[in-house]
Amino acid sequence: MGRKTGVLLIVGVFLAYYIYTPLPDNIEEPWRLMFFNTLLKSMTHLATFAEVLGISNLFDTMKLFSPFDEVPPTSDENVTVTETTFNNVPVRVYVPRRKSETLRRALFYIHGGGWCLGSAAMVNYDNLSRLTAHRLDAVVISTNYRLAPKYNFPIPFEDVYNSLKWFLQQDILEKYGVHPERIGVSGDSAGGNLAAAVTQQLLHDPNIKIKLKVQALIYPALQTLDMDLPSYRENAFSFFLPKWIMVRFWSEYITTDRSLEKAMLSKQHVPVEASHLFNFVNWSSLLPEKFKKSHFYNSPTAGPSQLAKKYPGFLDVRAAPLLADDSKLRGLPPTYVLTCQYDVLRDDGVMYVTRLKNAGVQVTHNHADDGFHGALYLPNFKIGERLKNHYINWLSENL
Ligand SMILES: *[C@@H]1O[C@H](CO)[C@@H](O)[C@H](O)[C@H]1NC(C)=O
Ligand SMILES: *[C@@H]1O[C@H](CO)[C@@H](O)[C@H](O)[C@H]1NC(C)=O
Ligand SMILES: *[C@@H]1O[C@H](CO)[C@@H](O)[C@H](O)[C@H]1NC(C)=O
Repeated sequence: MGRKTGVLLIVGVFLAYYIYTPLPDNIEEPWRLMFFNTLLKSMTHLATFAEVLGISNLFDTMKLFSPFDEVPPTSDENVTVTETTFNNVPVRVYVPRRKSETLRRALFYIHGGGWCLGSAAMVNYDNLSRLTAHRLDAVVISTNYRLAPKYNFPIPFEDVYNSLKWFLQQDILEKYGVHPERIGVSGDSAGGNLAAAVTQQLLHDPNIKIKLKVQALIYPALQTLDMDLPSYRENAFSFFLPKWIMVRFWSEYITTDRSLEKAMLSKQHVPVEASHLFNFVNWSSLLPEKFKKSHFYNSPTAGPSQLAKKYPGFLDVRAAPLLADDSKLRGLPPTYVLTCQYDVLRDDGVMYVTRLKNAGVQVTHNHADDGFHGALYLPNFKIGERLKNHYINWLSENL
């Protein structure tokens, strides 16, 4: 064997090792999934390398790749696409082209990306908004918001809330021909978090007369207290969204101080004064048996108070909507929750379903046994198309 062949063989073995990801048996299209996972993994490794060298924050490096994934606001034969600002927050507006005799429904959409990445211009969000506008004959507002690490909580939340409140003004709704009683809010992942948060806030905002008709939460992140739920345990090293990245997203959303991340990982971040909140994320009582399996519930421990004094955001319901007490949940609009089996965030969504039902809210829970985090976002996956259809059909019937 020549030297060249030897080198090739080693490179080949290394590549195969790098690309191959063990996947559960019921995952469809495993090789395409591994391809996308390898892209993401390479980006993460590069960004980690840049961070270790002290060049740039992990997510700031990842952000550099975003423009390659963005498309301009281009109208097509069915939908007119424009960009504008609502209360100084940039948004994309999708209006169906066909004439409408009556006022239209509207969906206010919030993109995901761990509060650190993403935009309404990303091709997959742009496609989803077009599809939703066309299929529902609805006006879709896809909002942007300023991102962490540069802009921590509450700025991303406030941007979204300001943008939504701007939209909900009578004259703006009239301008877009929107029926004020048929408006919904939706988002995926971190966008699902923001959707749940603004929906709660709006319900108790005395200045807003308009009530939302529905909220639709796609694998949302909803709580900061317990990063050791069964779904975090089972999917800690899962493809696309391993636990370390999710915890890093959460901590960067709240603060750039890495001590919060460390405390979250070692379960030292919740102060004794806030230990009553553990009730709201108690998976032993809030998860159905199907998700608890044989996992052992350790009552979580409370830690020292300094972190929560410095960064109270992680205990704020606007950051962690699952921490709202029942009185804040009562009266929320009919809710759609999508959860995926292979997702650290699965149990956040499942527990919210239980809590909403207990508070008398009408909930449709779609759990995908063969789903994974980001399934709707990845282009043209069979599972993504199925879940998208289910979601749009629900909106069609309920919005
Ligand atoms: C426009 O709508 C028609 C009918 O639903 C569909 O066949 C076509 O693909 C749509 N065009 C685009 C660009 O999405
Ligand atoms: C969680 O619920 C279980 C019973 O389902 C209970 O024994 C336990 O004390 C609860 N823990 C907390 C922190 O609320
Ligand atoms: C977005 O939608 C267009 C038109 O339907 C399609 O041609 C394109 O492949 C889609 N892009 C992605 C990344 O899904």
